[in-house]
Amino acid sequence: KKTSSSSQNSRGKFSGRIGYVMAVAGSAVGLGNIWRFPYLAAKYGGGIFLLVYLILVVTLGYALIVSETALGRMTKKSPVGAFHVFGKTLPFHLGGWFTAIIPMLICPYYCVIGGWVLKYLFDYALGNAPLLAQDGTFSAFLSSSGSVELWFILFSVLVFAVILGGVNKGVERVSKIMMPILIVLAIIVAIYSVTRPGALEGVKYFLIPNFDNFSLMTVVSAMGQMFYSLSIAMGILITYGSYIEKDVDIEKSTSQVEFFDTGVALLAGLMIIPAVFAFSGGDMSTLQAGPSLTFITLPKVFSSMGIGTFVGVVFFLMFLFAALTSAISLLETSVSTLGDELHWSRKKSCVFMAVVMIILGTCSCLGFGVWDSIRIFGMQFLDFFDFLTNSVMMPISALATCFLVVKVVGLKKIDEEIEISSQFKRKKIYHFIIKYVAPICITIILLSSVANVLG
Ligand code: PFF
Repeated sequence: KKTSSSSQNSRGKFSGRIGYVMAVAGSAVGLGNIWRFPYLAAKYGGGIFLLVYLILVVTLGYALIVSETALGRMTKKSPVGAFHVFGKTLPFHLGGWFTAIIPMLICPYYCVIGGWVLKYLFDYALGNAPLLAQDGTFSAFLSSSGSVELWFILFSVLVFAVILGGVNKGVERVSKIMMPILIVLAIIVAIYSVTRPGALEGVKYFLIPNFDNFSLMTVVSAMGQMFYSLSIAMGILITYGSYIEKDVDIEKSTSQVEFFDTGVALLAGLMIIPAVFAFSGGDMSTLQAGPSLTFITLPKVFSSMGIGTFVGVVFFLMFLFAALTSAISLLETSVSTLGDELHWSRKKSCVFMAVVMIILGTCSCLGFGVWDSIRIFGMQFLDFFDFLTNSVMMPISALATCFLVVKVVGLKKIDEEIEISSQFKRKKIYHFIIKYVAPICITIILLSSVANVLG
């Protein structure tokens, strides 16, 4: 039967460790690295934020990636099925679907932002650099709902085209091409940025920890960023883990993914912080302005450099690749869940997701324009979806995963899964983190984000 294309036997597969690492790194390296990381680093302490972030990545992040990947490979299922394998009662049902719905909710608004990136790349390529550097260009674009919708659809079509190609011929192939190019482009822009006159102060602020800048918010924001950046607790790592063979070394590939993701975040920091520092004469409020940094400040910085068109094209091409490979992972996970649970073909799952994307994505597009007056908890649609998924659902899903791994599956089984392919080098520290540190840290993130919104 046609529907069996999504069954266990014909389940997609990565060709090996390199393909898998590129695809997971493709998911991890995204808007979060280039857009979110630099301004959070600038806002929450510079070098000290970076230090806290690095410690979290190699401890907490590492333990969670290893857990999810092992769960995926062990069960050969996307999140719903992975939870089900260990129990068929309501809590497992809820745990699985709760996790599976997260990428379905993120994907639409992520593609809306992907559309903005695509539009900027086009404008740079057409030689419109001076226009992009003008005050009001970005807000005028956002409020023109039709145009935002159009770019969102164009970006989404690219993502769907890859997903229809399948795991190996679509996701893996595109990641293998885009990720190395992305690194080269990132290095070019970073070198250019740190060699601008006056940029050195910014480099120092970003790289040298100053303990006076430390606060609780440094830790909380670094932790939230780490989850988002590494695509943890969204069902993605479970799904991608289900596409690998038993000979893939989970520890080694996790380290490589973390190296890639953190490397690009570092490069993005080096691209943006020193250049903006030099441009604004060290005015921190420009750097801390948040999301507008990339779409409003950077075009001005690029123009002031004299070769705005060239840097703009390189930067936004890199940004586009980063956004595309992440959006691909979000859609792939959603399609995989539908295939596994409802036995839908890849095509049918794509049609369903296209409808979801159009409905939810359009809400996000219009939220900046004609639906500007509609607010949910004081937020427009895009911000609300971002808050709901990252600040509320992701921590709950992460807690559920810790519970599943520690209390239901048992750490012994996880150890055995990892030891099939290699010795489990960081076993002791892994146990300690997943049992004690992770639940406490995740609870802190959840409480702080809820308090933030209520306060
Ligand atoms: N990790 C991606 C980024 O840093 O932009 C974003 C992301 C992709 C988040 C996939 C969640 C996800 F499931």
